Amino acid sequence: MRLGDRVVMENPGFPPLIDLLERSGADILPVGLDDEGMIPAELDAAMQLDPVAVFIQPRAQNPTGANITTRRCAELAAVLADHQAWVIEDDHSGDIATGADVSIGRFIPDRTIHIRSYSKSHGPDLRIAAVGGAADVIDPLVARRMLGPGWTSRLLQAVLVELLTDPASVATVLRARTAYAVRSLALRAGLAGQGITSTMGDGINAWVEVVDERSALINLAASGVRVAPGTPFEVTSTRGQHVRVTTGLLDEHDSAQLQRVIAALTAAAKAGPTLRGV
Ligand SMILES: Cc1ncc(COP(=O)(O)O)c(C=O)c1O
Repeated sequence: MRLGDRVVMENPGFPPLIDLLERSGADILPVGLDDEGMIPAELDAAMQLDPVAVFIQPRAQNPTGANITTRRCAELAAVLADHQAWVIEDDHSGDIATGADVSIGRFIPDRTIHIRSYSKSHGPDLRIAAVGGAADVIDPLVARRMLGPGWTSRLLQAVLVELLTDPASVATVLRARTAYAVRSLALRAGLAGQGITSTMGDGINAWVEVVDERSALINLAASGVRVAPGTPFEVTSTRGQHVRVTTGLLDEHDSAQLQRVIAALTAAAKAGPTLRGV
């Protein structure tokens, strides 16, 4: 990527990626998403500006929790097929997402790079991810590693292979996936019952609409509930204001806790702007 290159990413998206791209001097073209991932018409419009790369989170998109469906994946691939941009897929939630394991790489293998992290599914201390894709990108990446560690620890690789194949460990990840889905659904259903809108919310995050982000944060802090402000996730401002709630930390067996969090979020989401500068 060169200074001034255009790149596409989801809006809202992952703040460290926004920072990285901005620091690299890239011009970010934001593309909106719904519960099935990037909106094809918006992607098509962005592609007319000749971006060099498109960054996509296939599952449990951070912050909205959207999963790209098989149908949407084919639609997005059809839009991308006519262009030369690299497609970089950040599959950060892996097996804790309930969404299908989709990849644009099935349609455009020579221009797709797929990165799968195991931090969320198997533990952040593993410090290991897998990357696969076009040799044009992977070969220089492997060569560049010679400047640093050179290779990925074989000890860590052996641990990961064991975790991915051992039946007890596979069952534990499945239990985690189910628990996260139940927690997210319980919270979002509770909020919907109070008239509060939130997105798909697969994985550990939900994107909750609020009247005023600042008031919501102050309200929630006073109730002892910590959430992330929505603005850092936005490349350009999206419709409405939001907070990102980590539903993964809820306890699905503690209904009193759930009700407390729903009540706090409801009050916070409805809180109007405070008078500024008074
Ligand atoms: C969208 C997204 N990409 C990448 C990462 C980083 O993953 P890892 O911890 O495996 O480096 C995260 C972690 O939260 C994330 O949410």
